[in-house]
Amino acid sequence: PTIQYIIEEAVASGIEEILIVTSSMKRPIEDHFDKSYELEDTLEKKGKHEMLEMVQGISNLAQIHYVRQKEAKGLGHAILCAKTFIKDEPFVVLLGDDVVVNDENPATHQLVNAYNKIGCSIMGVQRVPREDVSKYGIVRPSQSHTPTENGRMVKLTGMVEKPSQESAPSDLAVMGRYVLTPEIFEMLENQEPGAGNEIQLTDAIDTLNKTQRVFAHEFKGTRYDVGDKFGFLKTSIQYGLKHPEIKDSLNDYIIELGKKLEKE
Ligand code: G1P
Repeated sequence: PTIQYIIEEAVASGIEEILIVTSSMKRPIEDHFDKSYELEDTLEKKGKHEMLEMVQGISNLAQIHYVRQKEAKGLGHAILCAKTFIKDEPFVVLLGDDVVVNDENPATHQLVNAYNKIGCSIMGVQRVPREDVSKYGIVRPSQSHTPTENGRMVKLTGMVEKPSQESAPSDLAVMGRYVLTPEIFEMLENQEPGAGNEIQLTDAIDTLNKTQRVFAHEFKGTRYDVGDKFGFLKTSIQYGLKHPEIKDSLNDYIIELGKKLEKE
């Protein structure tokens, strides 16, 4: 499941305590990361040591905790469910349907590094074609502040959730990775529903920006939207092309398929 890659990214970025915000119907997530006594026992008896190690690896990945979001009131509301867990520390947010591939330096690690330099909330962004801005939270870069980190780090004057093409303040879209200061919870508690009649994280960050500096960091990596059918398929192919067991045959298959499609 793709959430495995999200958790692996968090762990590879130095995160040790993870809270997954789930809901009813999402029980399989808890089972996936739990210890599977029966399965481990069967694999052990059958001498399937490689698979046994893989299964054990999943449950030993990190300290994973769960909280249920009881009503689908939006991303901002989901984050608010984590308040008691987070207490008074900065934290990272990784959205489950944004998978980002960067084997050398995971996207979350890039944001944590940036946070360690400036100590402010940071949005992980990438540029999107103008016609796609209405799918995302879009940041409004400050005109007076000079971008740093080779132009990758910009200060914000605001953020808008899913703006129209005409009203979008830039083409820098939030890609499901955030570092947030704990003051965000105060904003979320008082946040009125916004786009889609949901409590939007974007709106709360926009409010936070009135009292704290907020930055956007253009992270390096290939981002896939697994909440979208075509995006899901592309992600599967990308991961397949890296998988030691199937990468060669998948590569050959794609080349063959390409030749066939060219002829058609
Ligand atoms: C959410 C956020 C949006 C962000 C997007 C990234 O939207 O609200 O700001 O840009 O994730 O995938 P959703 O995709 O849940 O509609």
